[in-house]
Amino acid sequence: MDIVLSGIRSTGHLHLGNYFGALRNFVKIQDSYRCFFFIADLHSLTTHPHPDDFHANVRIILSEYLASGLDPEKAVIFVQSDVPEISELYVLLNMLSYKGELERTTSFKDKVRLAKAKARNKPLNEISYDDHDDEGININAGLLTYPVLMASDILAHRSNFVPVGKDQEQHLEYARVLARRFNNTYGCDIFPEPRALDFGSGLIRVPGLDGSGKMGKSQGNGIYLCDDDRTITKKVMKALTDSGPVGPDSPMPECIANLFTLLELVSAPDTVDYFRGKWRDCSIRYGDLKKQLAEDICNTVRPIREKIDSVYNDDAYLHRVTGEGREKARASASETLALVRKAVGFKSF
Ligand code: TYM
Repeated sequence: MDIVLSGIRSTGHLHLGNYFGALRNFVKIQDSYRCFFFIADLHSLTTHPHPDDFHANVRIILSEYLASGLDPEKAVIFVQSDVPEISELYVLLNMLSYKGELERTTSFKDKVRLAKAKARNKPLNEISYDDHDDEGININAGLLTYPVLMASDILAHRSNFVPVGKDQEQHLEYARVLARRFNNTYGCDIFPEPRALDFGSGLIRVPGLDGSGKMGKSQGNGIYLCDDDRTITKKVMKALTDSGPVGPDSPMPECIANLFTLLELVSAPDTVDYFRGKWRDCSIRYGDLKKQLAEDICNTVRPIREKIDSVYNDDAYLHRVTGEGREKARASASETLALVRKAVGFKSF
């Protein structure tokens, strides 16, 4: 059976981007593949979280996974740092990863610009990636080798498919590069080349409510699975719009196209058609569109939110899920690492 693996960083509550880009798909496929889903707590360390928050954030993602329908009877659910084999593979793959290619990774460049903007208290569009004035700014080696750690997560279980959102496409490509490079370097066939799992509709990018870009934790433009109906409605009603279509069939500005992208994710097809028709004949009222969108987002989020607290507070359940997950994930990763060590040439005396 094909192996599927994916994870989400433990850097705060999950938003609709995480849900539609990743988690909803995890839930859909857990019956059909051998699935590994984990909480990427090591990846979260690039921003140096306070030790108290570090563990609390893992608990949050775990609770939101389970409340969204991930089932430990069907999928292996584990915490990344519980599986030391991943860190060992990370060391070995770092030896096959080159500085130049890592520096070209888009997410690295974006994070560098973001870190500089924050440190200098300047808007992002005034920041260049290329100036080398980064003294005292937290651009650590973990940030640079982030894609290597991600490849280690994927390759540790010799995964065939990885369900992720569009923003992770380049990282996944790098995991393929490292799989090939390892096999070629050591003359073996240990790693399959992992592929994205996109359900035929392409990888998705959920936009934010601020008119451009993607919904993201650091962008402050998200709707979260833990948000109540009032908060969601307030956020949607405040979403950026323009002054309306200028004529029949006029091109849609990005901020309105984003609202339609969200509508397509949460509403029935005839609702989407109705508002598209209203846009085309210029009779659209953005207030009505937003009201409908808010209602349909609330209906999507409510059943998940209502479960999160009880899961979060169930110590025994969380202990059992992570304990069983750790055991199964370590069993799988240690099989891979035994092959890897042999290929690299480790031998015991
Ligand atoms: P993270 O935590 O940034 O995001 C987790 C998942 O959510 C998806 N996502 C989105 N999808 C669509 N639209 C958005 N606006 C949006 N925002 C986030 C991401 O594509 C991702 O699937 N590096 C990964 C975590 C990771 C991982 C792995 C994933 C670590 N190791 C191994 C797969 C396999 C990350 O940063 O995800």
